[in-house]
Amino acid sequence: MTTIAFLGLGHMGAPMAARLGTAGHQVTVWNRTRAKADALAGATVADTPAVAAAGAEVVITMLTGPAAVEAVVLGDDGVASTIRPGAVLVEMSTIGPTVLAALASRLPDGVGLVDAPVGGSTGMAARGELTILAGGADDDIAAVTPVLETLGTVRRCGGPGAGAAAKLVAISAMVCGVTLLGELRTIGVALSLPTDLTEGLLAAGPMSIFVERTAGPGGHYPVELAAKDLGLTVEHARAPFVSATLGEVRAALPRLGSRDVSVLAAVRGTE
Ligand SMILES: NC(=O)c1ccc[n+]([C@@H]2O[C@H](COP(=O)([O-])OP(=O)(O)OC[C@H]3O[C@@H](n4cnc5c(N)ncnc54)[C@H](OP(=O)(O)O)[C@@H]3O)[C@@H](O)[C@H]2O)c1
Repeated sequence: MTTIAFLGLGHMGAPMAARLGTAGHQVTVWNRTRAKADALAGATVADTPAVAAAGAEVVITMLTGPAAVEAVVLGDDGVASTIRPGAVLVEMSTIGPTVLAALASRLPDGVGLVDAPVGGSTGMAARGELTILAGGADDDIAAVTPVLETLGTVRRCGGPGAGAAAKLVAISAMVCGVTLLGELRTIGVALSLPTDLTEGLLAAGPMSIFVERTAGPGGHYPVELAAKDLGLTVEHARAPFVSATLGEVRAALPRLGSRDVSVLAAVRGTE
């Protein structure tokens, strides 16, 4: 059993924290909006990130993005003010390697840091089927692997920041693919192709994985998170294709920002 502080109980964090509790770990949770923490059965609720982190062997953050993670870890009453030497901070949000490096430079001596962003949906989080892209020192990753394996399959990517970096490649592929699918459907309409012909071609070809991802009832990965993630990617590389996709995604934000990213796979103008 590990003493865990879990910070951030959004669509992903809530089922992950619940799963850790069910597995027998001692979980203390904190969330900015307290009602979500109070709703989590069986967990102890802390008033601040600092209070949650004070007694923990493993501190997990699962928050919107870079600004939220910096606030929760480095801000007033943040994790860094109380996390104890020997504990490991496991950063599981999608924030990219730059902010990860800033965290590493400002944690107290003796505190480990593992970047472990995830691939998968909210349903996969609840079932412990996430893909966890881990970066960090070997000892730190080894120390938290039993906890992470409760949440999914751990894929070691390399040293500090390697998991955060790998996640940007993986999520860019997904968002660009879904957006391209919508564009291809729009081209089919513009060319007056029968819908079933277009759909048959797309489902049988290289876009099939995106057809599958966007066919169901939809996940909880909204367009606004997709814009955040592509924005992180283009900070780190010359990426004209991703940049163009980011332009499309940002243009969709006012109308579709809160909807699952699968909405980008619809014929333009019918979303
Ligand atoms: N959704 C997915 O399918 C999916 C899949 C893989 C990875 N991810 C990544 O996982 C992370 C979490 O995603 P999610 O879907 O759980 O997001 P979400 O439902 O929007 O939850 C975001 C969490 O961050 C908190 N937060 C936001 N700004 C904050 C701030 N300034 N200070 C403190 N807390 C703050 C929110 O608190 P409140 O409750 O108070 O708003 C909430 O707990 C993101 O980095 C996302 O890119 C998501």
